[in-house]
Amino acid sequence: MKIVVFFSGTGTNLESILREQKNYDYEVIGAFTNNPNAKGIEICDKYETECKIIDHKDFNSREDFDKNISIFLDQINPDYIILAGYMRIISKSLVDDWEGQIINIHPSLLPKYPGLDTHKKALQAKDKMHGTTIHYVISELDAGPIIRQESFEIELNDTIESLTNKVKEIENKIYPETISNLI
Ligand code: GAR
Repeated sequence: MKIVVFFSGTGTNLESILREQKNYDYEVIGAFTNNPNAKGIEICDKYETECKIIDHKDFNSREDFDKNISIFLDQINPDYIILAGYMRIISKSLVDDWEGQIINIHPSLLPKYPGLDTHKKALQAKDKMHGTTIHYVISELDAGPIIRQESFEIELNDTIESLTNKVKEIENKIYPETISNLI
């Protein structure tokens, strides 16, 4: 199974997916970022994985930007597009073209807290539990069918930073395994 990984920032999930491909049934055939300054680009270099960079700021509309992504995807033709901290909304036409083949990981127990600032929202709501969700991408934001969820108890001294780290630690473990089971 051939996958491409989309990211926008630090890339801890990208790294775990690249590192674990030797242990699982998938091959990373490329990566993509919208952020020319993303730390994940260095991770791609480390794993000798080609990373396509297209800066969304060079485009006036999401559709124009996504058309260029579409050309890139047609060139490498992956079985799955794995969003790993990819922070751009994907246009409906791109989602429709790759229906059922785009997977996202979102740092909350969906349907709670779609969108941004999930750790802050969980703390503000005084939630007892927090976690992460792997799901299929549909054109509605963070709303597609859920593939896997992992949760943990929020402790009294948890902060946005500690929740970010706890969630990422879980994500880094479960994302490669879940991708491998996608077929
Ligand atoms: C991850 O926690 C992921 O769930 C989240 O961004 C982080 C990326 O971390 N994704 C979203 O918020 C998508 N809406 P990473 O760059 O270290 O993998």
